[in-house]
Amino acid sequence: MSELNLILLGPPGSGKGTQGERLQADFRLPYYATGDILRAAVREGTELGKQAKEYMDRGDLVPDDVIIGMISERVESAEAADGFILDGFPRTTAQAQALDGAMERLGRRLTAALVIEVSDEEVVRRLSGRRTCVKEGHVFHVEFDPPRKGGVCDVCGSRLVIRDDDKPEVVRHRLEEYQQKTEPLISYYEGKGILRRVDGEMAPDEVGDRIRALLATLQMEEQL
Ligand code: AP5
Repeated sequence: MSELNLILLGPPGSGKGTQGERLQADFRLPYYATGDILRAAVREGTELGKQAKEYMDRGDLVPDDVIIGMISERVESAEAADGFILDGFPRTTAQAQALDGAMERLGRRLTAALVIEVSDEEVVRRLSGRRTCVKEGHVFHVEFDPPRKGGVCDVCGSRLVIRDDDKPEVVRHRLEEYQQKTEPLISYYEGKGILRRVDGEMAPDEVGDRIRALLATLQMEEQL
């Protein structure tokens, strides 16, 4: 594929981060995960982190003006000139329109918006068992993807913790935010002809294989 400009959509816990990490390794493209960027800012106590923390703790979306500037500057940067993978952005129609504007300025187009589909019950099961490493944000699950050594990240050896927003009441609110503000983007991208759906309820390797197959099909279609 000449250029891959990919969006990962899907409810909380659908596996965007899990698959994003694999795609990043496959394609060696810059990977911008808004949740990871915001959590790093909170840890470092930056102005962005201070602005975002209260929204994230409640499970609310962070206001568009904060998020749009943060991602636009990355998408328009030199390191993303050959493509990018976006995880967790856009999440509102205003964010999607801002991304369209950035792509237009760059004279480029989005390759696909990939939605990873899972049920609400599966979201709850996954987020209640998720463990995240404190240093680099690598993700595990106590049952479905356990670390080799309990409580320690396989990749960087740092401590594994439960995310503050994985408490059941916050998860419920994150799901509502997704349904109200982000789900409309599915028809938005369907209308543009770039939506691709993936069944996210299979094992992580199988989901990864489906995504690879889907991207290979897109590549073939581009060459026709
Ligand atoms: P963010 O961090 O982006 O949270 P999210 O979208 O809710 O997604 P998650 O990170 O919870 O889940 P995921 O889909 O990446 O799943 P994962 O791979 O970890 O955002 C956090 C907050 O930041 C938001 O609430 C908001 O406040 C703010 N924010 C971020 N972006 C924003 C934006 N654009 N605008 C405004 N505010 C924004 O997998 C979950 C678990 O399941 C793991 O344990 C994993 O091991 C396991 N798992 C994964 N795949 C499978 C599988 N196939 N089978 C079994 N288990 C699996």
